[in-house]
Amino acid sequence: MRAENNCYPVWGEAWDQMEIQAEYFDDGSSFIAIDPVSINPGYLLDFSLFDRYLHKKGQYRFRCLLLDSRSIPKERLMELLRSWDQVYIHKNQNQNYTEYVKNNLEFILNHGEIDVRKKTQTLTTLSTQVINESFAANFASKEDCIQVVQNIEKLISQAMEFISDIESLKGIADLIGHDYQTHTHSIKVGWLTATFINANKELFGVKTKSQLRDIMIQATVAGFLHDIGTIKIPRHVINKEGKLSNIEYVLIQSHTAYSTSLLFETQLPRSSMQTILYHHENEDGSGYPCGLSGDQIPLIAKICHIADVFDALTSKRPYKPARTPYEALKIMAGENPYLEILRQFEAEVSGNPKVPVVAIVRDDYEAKLRRLREREMLEEEAQKRVEARNKLRDKGMSHCFDKDLLRRFILTINKSESFDLSGLL
Ligand SMILES: [Fe+2]
Repeated sequence: MRAENNCYPVWGEAWDQMEIQAEYFDDGSSFIAIDPVSINPGYLLDFSLFDRYLHKKGQYRFRCLLLDSRSIPKERLMELLRSWDQVYIHKNQNQNYTEYVKNNLEFILNHGEIDVRKKTQTLTTLSTQVINESFAANFASKEDCIQVVQNIEKLISQAMEFISDIESLKGIADLIGHDYQTHTHSIKVGWLTATFINANKELFGVKTKSQLRDIMIQATVAGFLHDIGTIKIPRHVINKEGKLSNIEYVLIQSHTAYSTSLLFETQLPRSSMQTILYHHENEDGSGYPCGLSGDQIPLIAKICHIADVFDALTSKRPYKPARTPYEALKIMAGENPYLEILRQFEAEVSGNPKVPVVAIVRDDYEAKLRRLREREMLEEEAQKRVEARNKLRDKGMSHCFDKDLLRRFILTINKSESFDLSGLL
């Protein structure tokens, strides 16, 4: 049912002071649809709500229902919000609306009447904005770095109850299979890590809910920021569509150290920093940056690693299709037939005393040519190593993960019933 003639408040002069009109005729492109139940009646709204009617073909009439919430009793506002099916805001007030969502995210995500998909959309839109701001921050000062972390912590703290609930994985399922984008990847990795920790809390030996919540927040912050160091790597390398050369591969690997260094002065908890630094370490010691193995790798870093690879495999890239969750987990849990060959190859390469990249400064032409040839040969060798690694990745990755954690990850995901994993367990 729609309420008629109830624009609150319509107080004469106020209209003249507002940039918003009482009525618009528009093709719809100037307005954004929002769900009235996502409006918190207890919060002062500084944006207007509109109703929409079809005026003529291709044109709508948008009529103001509520100018703002300053002079309407809360009870009356609740009544009205319940009577409206769909409301609209003018895009000129989108900034005000975004601020409202930032401050009321917990209200929206924990609202029983809002659909999980709408909650997911709200969370991803806001998270994308906050993560984009973080990636765009220049990190020139300690204050910039601290601000980035505070914004992420505020967002995660409000979203924690929602993202740590198995039911919310329906939202993740909807985000799977799309093009890889760093910000959505970061959101999903943080989200999956939080859900996993909540579903496997016995691994952490905590006694209180608040201790568990602290761990989940630290892990999710790490998930959101784990790839922030990629901002220091040349764009053409990050966005390269073809196979990476060895140098490019080494550059990409440096993002873990860059991430840690950018966040060094933010006083992020130790566990978040460790997760960010070690999220590419493999269980058998073949990962980077330190080649840690087994118990040397912190627990949350191992979980973040699993979530990271799962999301990377299920995302579409210009050079590869998206795997289904079933296919991705099968690769992750599979033994690799080329493992011994690769280990031998890695041992030969690491036993090679030559430095891969050298500065050629001497004038000796013959020596220059010889050094260039050596460098080319090393590049070829390195390229083979990169290709072998890619081959290895496709054929089975069980050596990369803690077996018990990976099994738990599969079980956790399977609980949501949003993923078809039958036959895998
Ligand atoms: Fe990474």
